[in-house]
Amino acid sequence: MKGERRRVAVLFLDLAGFTRLSESLDHEIVHSLVSRVMGFLSSVVESFGGYVDKFEGDRLMALFGAKTSAENDSARAVSCALRMLDILDEVGPVFPGSDSIAARVGIDFGSVTVAPDPSGHLTAMGAAVNLASRIEEMAAPGTILVTKEVRKECGELFRFKEYGTVEIRGISSPVRLFNPLGPGSIQFERWQRARRLSDVPMINRVKENKTLVSALRDAFGEKNKPVLIRITGEAGIGKSRLLHNFLLQVSGAQILHGHARPYVQTPFWIWIDILRQYLKIENETPEEIREMILKFAEDCSIKAMGVKLKQVSRSIADLLSLTRTDSMDETLETSRIRTVAIRLMLDAISYRGIMILALEDLHWIDEPSIAVLQLFLESGRNLNPIMVAVTERPSERTFGIMDNDWTLIALEPLCSDDINSITSYIISDDQGNRAFEKDLEDLITRGARGNPFYAEELVLGLIDSGGITPHGNVLWGLSLKADNVDIPSSVQSIIQTRIDKLPRDERKMLQLVSIIGVDFRIPVLERMLADLELEIDMHKTLDALISKGFLAGTESDRISFRHDLVQTSAYSTMLLHNRRIIHRSIARALEILYPDEASMLEPILFNHWKAAGNDQKTLEWALKALESATINEQHEEMMRLAVIILDLASDHSKEDEWLASMKALQAKHGVLARSGRISEACDIIDNILKNAREQSNPLIEAQALRSKCILLQDKGEMDEIDDLFKLALIRADEAGDEKLKGLIYGSMANYLSDTCKSKEALEYYERALAIHIKHNRRSNISATYSNIGNLLSRRGCLDEAEVSYCNSIRISRELGSRSSLGYALNGHAIVHAMKGNLKIAGDLFEEALECQIDIGNKALQSSILNNLGILSKMQNDFDRSLEYRSRALDLARSAGSKSSECIALLNIGNLYRLMGNPQRALKCCRESSEIAVQINDPRTLCHSLSVASMTEIEMGNSESALRLFYKAVELIEKYDTKPGMIEDFDDLIEMLCKKGINCTLPSDWQID
Ligand SMILES: Nc1ncnc2c1ncn2[C@@H]1O[C@H](COP(=O)(O)OP(=O)(O)O)[C@@H](O)[C@H]1O
Ligand SMILES: [Mg+2]
Repeated sequence: MKGERRRVAVLFLDLAGFTRLSESLDHEIVHSLVSRVMGFLSSVVESFGGYVDKFEGDRLMALFGAKTSAENDSARAVSCALRMLDILDEVGPVFPGSDSIAARVGIDFGSVTVAPDPSGHLTAMGAAVNLASRIEEMAAPGTILVTKEVRKECGELFRFKEYGTVEIRGISSPVRLFNPLGPGSIQFERWQRARRLSDVPMINRVKENKTLVSALRDAFGEKNKPVLIRITGEAGIGKSRLLHNFLLQVSGAQILHGHARPYVQTPFWIWIDILRQYLKIENETPEEIREMILKFAEDCSIKAMGVKLKQVSRSIADLLSLTRTDSMDETLETSRIRTVAIRLMLDAISYRGIMILALEDLHWIDEPSIAVLQLFLESGRNLNPIMVAVTERPSERTFGIMDNDWTLIALEPLCSDDINSITSYIISDDQGNRAFEKDLEDLITRGARGNPFYAEELVLGLIDSGGITPHGNVLWGLSLKADNVDIPSSVQSIIQTRIDKLPRDERKMLQLVSIIGVDFRIPVLERMLADLELEIDMHKTLDALISKGFLAGTESDRISFRHDLVQTSAYSTMLLHNRRIIHRSIARALEILYPDEASMLEPILFNHWKAAGNDQKTLEWALKALESATINEQHEEMMRLAVIILDLASDHSKEDEWLASMKALQAKHGVLARSGRISEACDIIDNILKNAREQSNPLIEAQALRSKCILLQDKGEMDEIDDLFKLALIRADEAGDEKLKGLIYGSMANYLSDTCKSKEALEYYERALAIHIKHNRRSNISATYSNIGNLLSRRGCLDEAEVSYCNSIRISRELGSRSSLGYALNGHAIVHAMKGNLKIAGDLFEEALECQIDIGNKALQSSILNNLGILSKMQNDFDRSLEYRSRALDLARSAGSKSSECIALLNIGNLYRLMGNPQRALKCCRESSEIAVQINDPRTLCHSLSVASMTEIEMGNSESALRLFYKAVELIEKYDTKPGMIEDFDDLIEMLCKKGINCTLPSDWQID
C-alpha cells in the first residue's frame, strides 16, 4: 500500500451564498464564476505552500504539510485563509449590486493518512479531515474557525478570539474553537531584529570602485573631453549602489544625479529632475522659477553664456515648472529650444567647476533626454572636467552615443562570501553579529545566485515567515529542514510571497501605490484613498512599509519603491479588475490635482486611462500625448502612439475617430519623412489624401497636399508640384484656415527659390509673411525673414537682404531659438562679406557657428566654416582658409550632408588652384560636380564647373576650359540665373577675355 501518516493542517473553504445565486442565474454562468474564483483561490493555496486536495462545487479542501512538512504548517494554513478572505473582499461584488462573495473556512491540525487514490491523486483521510469539514460548516460567512490544536501550533503569530467550546456530531468530546483575526505582533518583533537595509555596508566591488575612482582622476586631468563610464548589469546586481558609494567618496565636485523612470515619463524627465534638484525648486510658479534662472544667468562667469541663458529662461522655466505656457503655434521650434536650453544650463553649471553627471537607468530614458546628453557630450568646449557615469540594464536599445568612448563596468554576480556578508548584516541585531548555520547560509547563497537584491529579499522573506530562528546566542538557523524550504524561482515570487504575508492594510497600500508608479506624490495617494473610500491610516502604513524595506521616503511629498522590482511585483499581485478601478482613480486624481501640469502629464495620463480600460479617455489623452511627442520630436513614441490611436479610432463613420486616425497617419508620415523613408511617407500621404477626398475634408486634404509637394521635391519629381500647391491653396481657402495658407505659401516659396524662380518666390514669401505676422507666429516669421534674406542677397539686393536678416535675428533672440538665430546670422554675415565688411562678417560668422555648435547641427556648422574659409580667402590668407574648409569637409561628411560636402569640396578645389596645385584642384572639382549632379543643385554645379574651367585655363588647356564653361552657360540659361549669383563665374569670364579666348556669354549677361 502506498501512502504515509503525516501531521497536516487541513483546510476547508466554502463560498457562501452561491446556492442562492445558482437559483437566480443560469447554471452555466454560475459554473464559470465558481471555476474562476476557485482558480485563483487555489493559486493562493499554492503560494502558501499548500496543496489543493479536492474541489466539490463551491467548496475546496487544502492540505498543508502533506507533501513536505514544515514546523509552521498550521500557521501557513491560517495565513492562507486570511489571505483568501481578503482577496474575496478585494474582488468585491460579482455582479453590480450583489454582495461580495463571502467564504467560510475551517482548519484543524492532526495526524492523517496521506495516500494516492486509485487515480493517482494524493488525498488525506482521518479525523482531522472530518473535523475541519464540520467546523467549516459552523463558521459564519467571512470568518475562519480553527481548533485548539491549530491555535497552539500558531503561538503568537496571529491574534485569536475565543469562539467557545462546542459539541460536534460524531465527535465524542466537546471541541474548543477559535477565530483567527489577523496577524499578531510577533511578526513585527521579528522585523525589528533585522537592521535597516540602508545600514548594510558596501561589500566588495573593489575593482569596480577603483575603475570609477581612477576615471575621476582622469577626468580631473582632462579638460577637453568628458570621461564616460557605463555601469551595466541585471536588475538588483548593485549598479545604483556602486554609483552611490562612489559619489559618497567624491568631494569638491558638483554632482548632478537623476533617474529615468520606467514605462512612461514626461519628455526630458531626467533633466527636469536634475535641474529641479540643482536649483532647489519645489513649488515655485513658472515666473518665480524664471527669476531663479535669470539670477543664475547673472552669476554666470562667462558673460556670453549668461546672455544666452537669459534668452532661453522662459523655456527652462516652463519645463521645470512642468507647465507648458508656450502656445501651440510656436511648436515648430519648441523641442529644439528646450534641448538647447537644457544644454546651456548644463554648460553653465559645468563652467562653475568640476561636474559629475550620474544618470541612472538609462534603459528607460526618453528620446529628447538622450538628445540633450548627446549634444552636451559633443560640445568639446568644456572649461572644467566632466565625468558622466550612467547605469543601465543590458537591453536592446542603443542610443548611438554609447559606441566608443565609454568605459564599461559590467557587474558580475557577487561570490557567496560576499552574499553572506550582506545577509548576516541584515540579520544581525544591535548587540552584535550573528552568524548563520551552514544550511541556512547555503540556502541563501543558492537562492540569491550572486545577486545582492535577491539575497536581501530572501532573508527578509525568511524572517517574515519565521523561517529563521535563533540557535543559541550567536547563531541563526533555519526553523525547518533546508530540503523542505522552497526557494521561489524568481525574485518576483520571493517578493510576492513577502507581500502576501503583509498585514492587510499594508499589503493593500503597497498594491495601491504600485499602480501610481515607482515613485509617487502623497497628494495623489490621499485623493485616491478618498475616492475609493478606503479607510487606511496612510501615514502609519507607509511608515511600516518603509521600515520593512518595501518603500523609501524621498522628498517631502514623494515616496518611491526601494527597487523597481518591488513595484513590478506588487503590481502583478493586483487583480485585473481592481487595477482598472485604481488606474481610473489615479487618472482622475492627476487630472484634478495638477491641471497646470496636464500637458506634461499627457503620456502618464494616457497610460493610466489605457490601463483603466476607458477607451474614450484613452483616445483623448493619446491624441494629446501624440501632440506632445510631436513637439518634442519623440519619433519612437510617435509611432507607438499612432498605432494605438489607429487601433482605438477604427470606426471611421464617427467624425472624431476619423480625425484621430488622420492625425495618427500624419504623425507616422512625419516620422518617416524625417528619417528619409520617402516612399513609405508618400504612401501614407496618398492614403490620407484618399480619405480626405472621400470625406470631403478640405483641411486635411490641404495639409496632405502640402506634405506631398515637399516629398515630391525631395524626390526630385517636380512635374506635378505646381498644380498640387495650387490645389492645396484652394482647399485651405475652402477650409477657411488662413494659418495653413501661410504655411503653404512658405513651402511654395522655398520650392520656387530652390528652383531659381526668384521673382515668384519673393512674392510668395511676402504673402506668407503677411499671414504669419497677422497671426503672430513668431518662429514662422523669423524663418521667413531669413529665407527672404537669402533670396535677396542672391539677387544682389544687399541692403534689403540685410534688413530682412536683422528682423529674423531680433525675433530669434526674443524666442531663444538658437537654430533660427544661427541661420539668420550666417546670412547676415554673407551680406557683409559681399559688401566688403570683412571684419563684421567674420564676427557674425563666428556667432553663427557658436549657435550651430549649441544645437549640434553639424551640416550648418560645416557651411559656416566654409563661409569663414571664403572670408580668409578674400583676405588672401589661403592657409587659414584651407584649414576652415577642411574642418568643414570633415563635419559635412560626418553629418552625412551631401550639399555641404559638395560645397566644401569645390571650395577646397578653388584654394588648391590659387595655391598652385591644379591637379588636386581638378580632382576636388570633379568630386564636387558629381555630388552636385546627384543632389540636383545646378547653382553649385555651375560654380564647380567655373572653378574647374579656370584651373584648365591656368594649365593652358583652353579647349577643356571652354567645354566646362559652356556646360555652365547652359545651366545658367536653363535656370535664368543672373550675374553675381554664381560665385567665380564672373572671374572666369574675365580670365577668358584676358587670355583672348573667344566665348559667347549667356544672353542678357552684362558685366560692368
Ligand atoms: N556591493 C554591495 N554591498 C552591499 N549591498 C549591496 C551591494 N550591491 C547591491 N547591494 C544592495 O542590493 C540592492 C540592489 O542594489 P541596486 O544597486 O539597487 O541594484 P541595481 O541598481 O543594479 O538594480 C540594494 O538594496 C543594495 O543596497
Ligand atoms: Mg538601480
